[in-house]
Amino acid sequence: MSIVRETNETGVTERPEPTGPWSAVIAGTGHAVPDKVMTNADLEKLVDTSDEWITERTGMKERRITADGEAASDLALRAAHRALDDAGLTPADLDLIIVGTVTGDMLFPSTACVLQAKLGARNIAAMDVSAGCSGFIYALSTARHFIAAGTYRNVLVVGVEVLSRITDWTDRGTCVLLGDGAGAAIVRRAPPGPQGILADFLAADGTRGPDLYMPAGGSAIPATAQSVQQRLHYLKMNGNAIFKVAVRSMAEAFNRLVRSARVKAEDINLLIPHQANLRIIQAVARTLHFPEKKVFINIEKYANTSSATTIIALDEARRKGLVHVGDLVMLVAFGAGLTWGGVLIRW
Ligand code: ACO
Repeated sequence: MSIVRETNETGVTERPEPTGPWSAVIAGTGHAVPDKVMTNADLEKLVDTSDEWITERTGMKERRITADGEAASDLALRAAHRALDDAGLTPADLDLIIVGTVTGDMLFPSTACVLQAKLGARNIAAMDVSAGCSGFIYALSTARHFIAAGTYRNVLVVGVEVLSRITDWTDRGTCVLLGDGAGAAIVRRAPPGPQGILADFLAADGTRGPDLYMPAGGSAIPATAQSVQQRLHYLKMNGNAIFKVAVRSMAEAFNRLVRSARVKAEDINLLIPHQANLRIIQAVARTLHFPEKKVFINIEKYANTSSATTIIALDEARRKGLVHVGDLVMLVAFGAGLTWGGVLIRW
């Protein structure tokens, strides 16, 4: 057994290091969005739509669009530096990087590896997780279990998307919904205690993959002049079918987390759902009889940034002073796969 040395105002103490399971505590968060704002009025110039339709049906007013020459790793880098600063750490302190994304810089190497290089981190493990809009939840759960097992101490978890690069700007059914952004969290190993991630829940239904997908660009349909002509390198979605699954699956994640952490639903201080549609969020709250005033919503500013929505929202909520020590904060999401899940955190 190794010995932990701790220095405080009363001197140096030594104690045996616990063997776990360790707590996974969120030690810092950060987010970054591109400067360029695209409003509903801007979209009116591109497709047959209106500010009224978008606002009424989705709650979205504007979204951010990444500048030419920038990629997912650039947004991720900015978010990661903010999270590291918040945690009081440097890239040298990290020992794992996990990036949730479906719009990474390229198919390979992973965006986590690109980010590792840009951060100047050591030769630590780095990997991407592909779980659509649930990407950050999947990545955070993975970090939690590596930490609980005692494998790693400081994990950088990122949710980042540059959806504008796979958006069909002639399809009004999807282009009004999407935006770009990144969020990051530092998950730190701590001795077992009341704080940290209390529960996680992950699920998927691969039979529903074609409801939300990008057909070409992989090994099934490699890029050809024909695949480009047929517009197969853009996100395709069956919006109505997804809507129903979204409500059901996020409500399921909420109930599973409450049960497995043995807490009461009314004790949840802040619910941060995936920001895909204001009506979906409101339907989830209604289904759960959960007060809407305890649900964090920022969809009007950024639209749907896929795997980045929940971590951008968590960072904003913290910076607005909405998260206090001892609070129960829950993130739930659903997305391409189809995937869904959630994480319950005691702050
Ligand atoms: N502007 C104006 N009219 C539109 C637009 C638009 N942007 N888009 C669709 N319409 C029209 C339709 O053509 C249809 O017209 P019709 O009645 O003449 O046929 C009418 O509006 C109603 O269309 P619906 O699809 O029934 O509209 P609905 O109220 O269901 O809203 C939406 C559509 C917003 C897509 C909704 O179904 C939704 O949010 N679904 C879930 C989307 C989602 O969460 N996707 C997952 C995330 S995407 C990702 O992973 C990155």
